Amino acid sequence: MKAFHVELLESCRGLLAEDGMNALTDVCALLKSEAPRYDWVGFYWMNDADQHLELGAYAGAPTDHVRIPYGKGICGQVAVSGTLLNVDDVASSDNYLACSLETKSELVVPIQSNDRLVGQLDIDSHTLRAFTDDDVHFCILLCDLVARVWEPAAQ
Ligand code: SME
Repeated sequence: MKAFHVELLESCRGLLAEDGMNALTDVCALLKSEAPRYDWVGFYWMNDADQHLELGAYAGAPTDHVRIPYGKGICGQVAVSGTLLNVDDVASSDNYLACSLETKSELVVPIQSNDRLVGQLDIDSHTLRAFTDDDVHFCILLCDLVARVWEPAAQ
């Protein structure tokens, strides 16, 4: 990872150390304002009882997708598989939920706490193929930090 992502990760680490789950709105805002091509940044949390994801903290335009059934869209697929998806061109995906017509690519990174899938970081971009290997690496490390402060009641 280059200095940019290392520094951004350190800023997120500081916010999370200070405020735990309450820092997530600031983390989203920081990523959206600092990272190039991050146009919408949000966290979704698993609700296994109701088999859907629930939107938590986010930065960017309000979305209709505040609840996403497991299996639906990019986020729903990650909820089922637990595997990161980096979609270069959302138009090529046949299982995609449009938040904004401007969105061209999307990165969804699972969050695991004690070997349990608890949520995911979702980033949308107005740019095709927006997310580099460094972005992916950065987001995996960020999700590890979030997992350490994750607590169910604070979603
Ligand atoms: N595009 C996502 C839905 C969530 S919005 O991007 C905020 C999907 O296909 O699951």
